[in-house]
Amino acid sequence: MQTSEKIHPDQLESESISIYRDIGPYKGYEYGEKYVTVSCEHANLTLKLVTPDIVRVSCSLDGENAQLEPSKALLPYDPLEGWNVIEWENELEINGGNVALFVDKAALSFRVKTAQGKLCGSYTLSFSDAALRCQGTMDDEAMIYGLGETTGYLNKRGERYTMWNSDVFDPHVPDMESLYQSIPLLIHHTPDNTFGLFIDNPGKTVIDLREAVDSYFVETVNGEMDLYLITGPEIKDVVANYSILTGKMPLPPLWSLGYQQSRFSYMNQEEVIQLAQNFRSKGIPCDVIYLDIHYMNDYKVFTFDKDRFPDPAGMMSELKKLGFRIVPIVDPGVKVQDGYEVYEQGLEMGRFCRTPDGKEYVGDVWPGPSVFPDFTDEGTREWWGALHQFYVDYGISGIWNDMNEPSVFNSPTKTMDANVIHRNDGHPKTHGEMHNIYSLLMSQATYEGMEKLLQGERPFVVTRAGYAGVQRYAAVWTGDNRSYWEHIRLSISMGLNLGLSGVAFCGSDIGGFMHHASGELLARWTQLGVFTPFCRNHSAIDTRNQEPWTFDAEVEEICRKYIELRYRMLPYLYSLFYDSTCTGLPIMRPLVLEYPKDANTYQLSDQFLLGKDLLVAPIYEPGKQHRVVYLPEGIWFDYWTGTRYEGGTHIITHAPLDILPLFVRAGAILPQTQLMQHTGQANWQELDIHLYAQGADHAFALYEDDGISDQNLQGACNLIQISTEEKDKRFAIHAANKVCGLQQNDKSILFTVHHLSFIPKSVSPISEVHEMKHLEERSSGWYYDKQDDHLYIKTQLANLQEVEFIVKG
Ligand code: GLC
Repeated sequence: MQTSEKIHPDQLESESISIYRDIGPYKGYEYGEKYVTVSCEHANLTLKLVTPDIVRVSCSLDGENAQLEPSKALLPYDPLEGWNVIEWENELEINGGNVALFVDKAALSFRVKTAQGKLCGSYTLSFSDAALRCQGTMDDEAMIYGLGETTGYLNKRGERYTMWNSDVFDPHVPDMESLYQSIPLLIHHTPDNTFGLFIDNPGKTVIDLREAVDSYFVETVNGEMDLYLITGPEIKDVVANYSILTGKMPLPPLWSLGYQQSRFSYMNQEEVIQLAQNFRSKGIPCDVIYLDIHYMNDYKVFTFDKDRFPDPAGMMSELKKLGFRIVPIVDPGVKVQDGYEVYEQGLEMGRFCRTPDGKEYVGDVWPGPSVFPDFTDEGTREWWGALHQFYVDYGISGIWNDMNEPSVFNSPTKTMDANVIHRNDGHPKTHGEMHNIYSLLMSQATYEGMEKLLQGERPFVVTRAGYAGVQRYAAVWTGDNRSYWEHIRLSISMGLNLGLSGVAFCGSDIGGFMHHASGELLARWTQLGVFTPFCRNHSAIDTRNQEPWTFDAEVEEICRKYIELRYRMLPYLYSLFYDSTCTGLPIMRPLVLEYPKDANTYQLSDQFLLGKDLLVAPIYEPGKQHRVVYLPEGIWFDYWTGTRYEGGTHIITHAPLDILPLFVRAGAILPQTQLMQHTGQANWQELDIHLYAQGADHAFALYEDDGISDQNLQGACNLIQISTEEKDKRFAIHAANKVCGLQQNDKSILFTVHHLSFIPKSVSPISEVHEMKHLEERSSGWYYDKQDDHLYIKTQLANLQEVEFIVKG
């Protein structure tokens, strides 16, 4: 604990003031087909076009014409041709793709404009003895989004962060400038234009949005600055363009969208089986149980403890019968112990990180002194990946990567020594230069290894640490939060900015990891958590248990109700996941993504959209039963009561403990399915498609496949296109099952139309039934329930079929 002495005036360490000099003046330029290099007195700037909308500007303090290697975070690209340079008296105009850079010859600053004349910031480069700095302008009204996993609110303006992956056990508060993930992406948003700046530097990078009012700066310490300017004009364009650079999430197996239960630790196999049985006997859906470090023998990765888990195969087959999967934790630290195969093999093969004098770097983690695989080398990644045969043999297809900043307990920096040399596939670099990417490469090794071993089944990996591009290999959970109400709120802004930074599959420990949850907190957190892409309840050793039934009957019932809702909504959720694999867009979205011109959405950090159609406004304070919700333009319906609201306004909504404020956009198409206790196939035989009338015409692509294999990549999937059209007393529904890569039997579809603005008199081409139970017995027909004002339309949909219903009033 620290006391006020920390700020004793006589003991404050005064920060040494660095003198910054600009890199100019301009000396000349040279260009080839695929690049332009501008040289100035102290540095060179090299421009390359990744796509017509993404320009790379790399600056190097040394080297004649340094062509920096992009980090391993980036997907390979071949720069485009077609640069055109015009030399004016005071500036150079460099045109390429859809952008133009105007370089001021005197100061060597540059401004970027799109072909449509939108200004994407002005930048000045300068350097000191310790750092290279890029200062970028911030428009008065601009919001800054992105930056991955950080504390604070949605808008990052006024904050300062250091990109340096850190194991932060202390409470996550705004003073924490670094957390587990580093994603140096800034999204600069104004009502007229949005653009992005990605700084590709896996070493320490400071991003200061606090110091100046109208500008921010980025500082790197290795004499290099590798910038990617990403044009908009919308936030969605920036996010999509960024995903061209760093990749998109592969479609995860359906089971990983289910509810997941974890604790540090479920101590033995009886406890694990009992836990699984509890879920089934209590009728709370669940797909996954996590094994934390106690499953291992002496915390040695790729082992089971023989006393606690004497029969892992037997346990696995029991769990399989109950419909559960196991995800074990795998940390990078390998225990130094003679006779331990992984250690001895890695040593012999030279797989571990070494200090400059050629010795294995040893640091303490859970197992005591440990060595760390050098994931920067392809050979090591392959070796590590292949070691997962150990888990695959037990039928395991998901892995939990933790402590991969890497965390080192006994080092003064709490991580690997900065001087450790990474082999980096023949281009050695120090750990200081590669620190933030270490975890990404571990996830890559795990994902690719599992992918090979599973032979056609999709792997699932979740990681604590990561760098830009981590979405290609793993989902992200936000580390050791606490059972604090404040952390419920924090989990929203973290999830939103992670999503804007490419990481669609993310979530926080539901119920909080450290500290002790209360029943009320768990109920509120579960309500929110079921609408986050990654949905796992996890808690720490020595804290109160927080499985859904460990409080009282009311809390248990609330958890059940919301977890069930998630399972019913799987067709909607899975389709959003699929969409994200194609577009790179987040699943959990800040309102500003969908309503970029509406200033009321710009700083909304405590409510979000799931896709476009569901607006989630969690309660994150104890005893609260009301909250203010902002509903953007359009018509919205309260999910529970059906109350209709005209958007563009703030409302106060009532939310007793069992109610999560949830709103549906008029025009929404929400496919749901029958409740199950665990996810089955994503080829739903029965679909309940909820249509919300009174909105603009709407369309939704419902995605289906087998939910587990990689056959989807070979086309074994379906997209059912559903659309509605509304005019006066006419409501048309159209569904087409046209992309039939996935053979299936006829599906039974029940459309439920909510809030029709007229009483339906006919639905062509089918006939009316006069009681709901008759609809249940028949394969097609329609029924209008006057009481609840719902129109039900039942039909069958075969492969390659198309159906259309015209409802008339
Ligand atoms: C770290 C992880 C936490 C895990 C614990 C033990 O603190 O963040 O989730 O339970 O290690 O493995």
